[in-house]
Amino acid sequence: MRPDTAPTQTVTRLAEYQPPAWWVEEVHLTFDLQPQAALVTAKIGFRRNAERPGAPLRLDGRKLTLRGCAVDGAPVTPELDDEGLTYAGDLPDRFTWTCETEIDPQANTELEGLYLSKGMYCTQCEAEGFRKITYYPDRPDVMAPFTVRIVAPKSVPVLLSNGNPGATGALSAETHFAEWHDPHPKPAYLFALVAGDLVSHDAAFATASGRPVDLKVWVRPGDEDKCAYAMDSLIRSMRWDEATHGREYDLDIFQIVAVDDFNMGAMENKGLNIFNSKYVLASPETATDRDYELIESIVAHEYFHNWTGNRITCRDWFQLCLKEGLTVFRDQCFSADERSEPVQRIQDVKALRARQFREDQGPLAHPVRPEEYIEINNFYTATVYEKGAEVIRMLRLLVGAEGYRKALDLYFDRHDGQACTIEQFRTCFEDACGIDLGQFSRWWHQAGTPVVTVQDAWEDGTYTLTLAQTTPPTPGQVEKAPMVIPCEVGLLLPDGREAVPSRLLEVTEVEQSFAFEGLAARPTASLFRGFSAPVVVSREIDETDLALLLGSDTDPFNRWEAGRQYAQRILFDLLAGADTVPEAWSAACQALLVDDTLDPAFRALALDLPGEDELAGEIAANGGQADPDAIHAALTSLRETLAERLEGDLATTYDAMQVPGPYSPDAQSAGKRALRGRCLGLMMAGSAGADRAQTLFAQADNMTDQLSGLVALVHHAAAGWEEALAAFHRQWQADPLVLDKWFSLQATNPRPGAVARVIALTHHADFDWKNPNRFRSVVAAFAMGNPTGFHMASGAGYDLLADWLIRLDPVNPQTAARVAGCFETWRRYNPARQAKMRAEIDRILATPALSRNTAEILSRIVGT
Ligand code: TRP
Ligand code: ZN
Repeated sequence: MRPDTAPTQTVTRLAEYQPPAWWVEEVHLTFDLQPQAALVTAKIGFRRNAERPGAPLRLDGRKLTLRGCAVDGAPVTPELDDEGLTYAGDLPDRFTWTCETEIDPQANTELEGLYLSKGMYCTQCEAEGFRKITYYPDRPDVMAPFTVRIVAPKSVPVLLSNGNPGATGALSAETHFAEWHDPHPKPAYLFALVAGDLVSHDAAFATASGRPVDLKVWVRPGDEDKCAYAMDSLIRSMRWDEATHGREYDLDIFQIVAVDDFNMGAMENKGLNIFNSKYVLASPETATDRDYELIESIVAHEYFHNWTGNRITCRDWFQLCLKEGLTVFRDQCFSADERSEPVQRIQDVKALRARQFREDQGPLAHPVRPEEYIEINNFYTATVYEKGAEVIRMLRLLVGAEGYRKALDLYFDRHDGQACTIEQFRTCFEDACGIDLGQFSRWWHQAGTPVVTVQDAWEDGTYTLTLAQTTPPTPGQVEKAPMVIPCEVGLLLPDGREAVPSRLLEVTEVEQSFAFEGLAARPTASLFRGFSAPVVVSREIDETDLALLLGSDTDPFNRWEAGRQYAQRILFDLLAGADTVPEAWSAACQALLVDDTLDPAFRALALDLPGEDELAGEIAANGGQADPDAIHAALTSLRETLAERLEGDLATTYDAMQVPGPYSPDAQSAGKRALRGRCLGLMMAGSAGADRAQTLFAQADNMTDQLSGLVALVHHAAAGWEEALAAFHRQWQADPLVLDKWFSLQATNPRPGAVARVIALTHHADFDWKNPNRFRSVVAAFAMGNPTGFHMASGAGYDLLADWLIRLDPVNPQTAARVAGCFETWRRYNPARQAKMRAEIDRILATPALSRNTAEILSRIVGT
């Protein structure tokens, strides 16, 4: 039951889509920037859509003060409400709308629309933030060229917007202006403005056809030495899109701006990407290997949106996966090409399972293309992004790399400059490749993770695989139809040789069999190589087969997968009361650890045990109740056993993986540091680690090693951990991104007393909770990354999360709603924990004036 204090939740439905009543031919905006009273003058050319004759002029607008508006110069008085304005008077088929609004950037804590971050003006308009700047048909199918003039005091020296630069100059002794023109028609969600005291790191680029492009990465003074990697990533992304997709950049300038207060990772505004500074700023001393990797992939992601998202955009927000799934897939391919394909794939699948399978198996499950929403910001989900990318990956697998390229070329040819739907995208694949994607398109429409049950038989040299599929019910979708499931399979002989190399099976029916003839011995099937479909595989497989796949499969992903399953099986046995760990498993781990023919990054992943949340999800999916303390204990004991059995090799590998010379973020060096860190983590379970951790922390010349040493010391309360923690804070006090790491490593500390420690962190002078990065580094890090603390039997962890959500919600509803998603797994636990979580959710839902963002998420979580 939803408490009646919750706001009314209007539902937007795909089925009710109507084209806009008015098209926009051009937009001219003038900004007069003042912290508390910025004036925005809009001059907009409207043209009636002949398909919707007689419709009044309806413009979206929120939290705006209307100073005046006119039609073709004649003042008019439209009807105002909380969501916008309506002008029902007579209108010609084409007219010029002028409108002056006043906004208060300083009071804008939601970080949507025009706001101030550390004295810098910036905007965030996706999905519906432009309506907080001026009245407008704020929907992605209304596209127009924009011309922008920014007027500001000279104390705000840098004035940026989308497109190419135009005139600049002084207006008086105190004020100046700059103009920008973006010739490419775009939806309002891609509008951006930045103004502040900024410095740029510049580079020159020439496109494949020889057009020069100025590249600029803008940061606050003092950070200019931390932009090189972002710039390098940008240049490599631009080259990659030319080489692999034949796509060139299309303006004279491309700019990236780093801001400290940002709700998400980054935003692809046309020609002026705005980034969370966490995904721009990097130096060896302040950023980890993982940070470098994320900078590279997010810079690429936003750049790739220029074609997949900006030039071809979404008709409506239900089509979000059209740009996000495709762009994530493109950035994953880029990272695989730039680094290691198998390592990239394993990481992507780990993330997919941790976030998307979790979502699909809980109350927030929804199709990649949803059919209704209350708050669109709540649909920037792992399902839309990550599962959306898996759908594109399967398409490429089905039509082949050449078919994929042909289909995308057709898509760009046919739809450049348009706002499209998934159906239009699908038709390009059908037309280019001559296939029917009718059944395949269920991947966009049907929620839930399919479960594929595997059975096999062996008779007279013929091996038969039988694959059966079911998709569990999800909210609002009880009945499920069979999917097209691509299964890449190879067969191994008992001696490890490959009897049948990879081939693609297409499972389209509820149950289907595939026969392999003429085999010398009963083979072991290596299924779903490279994770060829986002499904759960249910298969009885014995330890001999797992060991064979782990040791000999030609597919590196499945070697990793076999190890993961093997470890999972042992953990379940431990949870069920077993008190020994099979020697065969630790021997297999050892073989991987010392195999110098394998990439260290791969070895690091292969030695990474399943996570606590992953195990909890697995237990719940099999009808059990997850016990976070028991899971933690089982993992700890498995880690200790492994550390004991591998003691000598861990130390040797740790020492061998030292990377000589100055720090470099390249994949090889990072892989060695990752393996080293993995060894150290295991060694901390025994007694061999503490000294090494202390030395690593004290002598590190880079953040990866320094942090790896510090986490090892703190999470194991090794001698000197308190001094190390204090020293780190003293050293990095002035660097907010490093301080975030200091906070989150404490929030995720699994040692007893987590709730009290986290409460203490929230009272720390540096806990600036209105900054989303800082809030997440404490509150979300705790709720997601500290299962024993968060699920403490007293319910104190739940209470802490609820307190902070109630506090954050009125200030920043987007981030509050996102973090509220931490409650989505509440049904996995025992009735006592469920009741405690439910009570906290209800307490939040009963908060007066709760945002519709948080209200929607929590009501879906409890199922009302
Ligand atoms: N479109 C952005 C991306 O995926 C993400 C995004 C959506 C976003 N809404 C946002 C970023 C709000 C910041 C704030 O790249
Ligand atoms: Zn994106």
